[in-house]
Amino acid sequence: MHFLSADLEEYAEAHTTGESDVLQRLNRNTHAYVMRPRMLSGQLQGRFLSMISRMMRPRRILEIGTYTGYSALCLAEGLTDDGLLITVDNNEELESFARSYWNQTPYTSKIDFRLGNAPDIIPTLNDVFDIVFIDADKKNYSLYYDLVFDKVRSGGIILADNVLWSGKVVPAGRPASRAIDKDTQAVLDFNQKVQQDSRAENVLLPVRDGLMMIYKQ
Ligand SMILES: C[S@@+](CC[C@H](N)C(=O)[O-])C[C@H]1O[C@@H](n2cnc3c(N)ncnc32)[C@H](O)[C@@H]1O
Repeated sequence: MHFLSADLEEYAEAHTTGESDVLQRLNRNTHAYVMRPRMLSGQLQGRFLSMISRMMRPRRILEIGTYTGYSALCLAEGLTDDGLLITVDNNEELESFARSYWNQTPYTSKIDFRLGNAPDIIPTLNDVFDIVFIDADKKNYSLYYDLVFDKVRSGGIILADNVLWSGKVVPAGRPASRAIDKDTQAVLDFNQKVQQDSRAENVLLPVRDGLMMIYKQ
């Protein structure tokens, strides 16, 4: 689903900094060789993630949902010299694909890939994070928020992708005849949870499929 018309989307991309050669190849080859390439953040959202990271100069980033490693590379661009991005995914088939692109960049030694189920891995992490990017299974979004909240420093940011869920968060975006499906309900519950959390300030940005930006006070 496109929230902007195709020509406005093209215009926005044309007036956003372009991808590096590595990101361009990773983007193209994900679309050519990997299932469900729509999951990749892409140029516009990728440049947004990079800019947030460069502005914050994080020492620790946690990413939940690596896929082919595109958003990890974008977020890693802002890390401090001693910074580290931990990225978690349960799909072992994509690890070597992602690594082959990370290895072509100066960020490769700053990316720590953890293979496994994110709800099991997050509680084992003892770091204090400046940025957390939630971009995995929707049914666990609220759980991820609860698991990471105390691990984020005051003044840190949690970003969550796909919070407009192809428009299905509003009745007009859903087939009238069908009940709300589980993933849509999970995204609705997550958005409501964040909105009602007095410990945080949030902005739902209609970027791509919707990006929730949460500032921990
Ligand atoms: C939307 S993709 C991530 C896209 C990536 N962040 C990007 O922008 O390029 C979601 C990823 O989450 C992973 N995932 C789904 N459920 C998971 C779980 N329970 N634990 C760990 N990873 C999971 C999937 O294997 C998939 O690669």
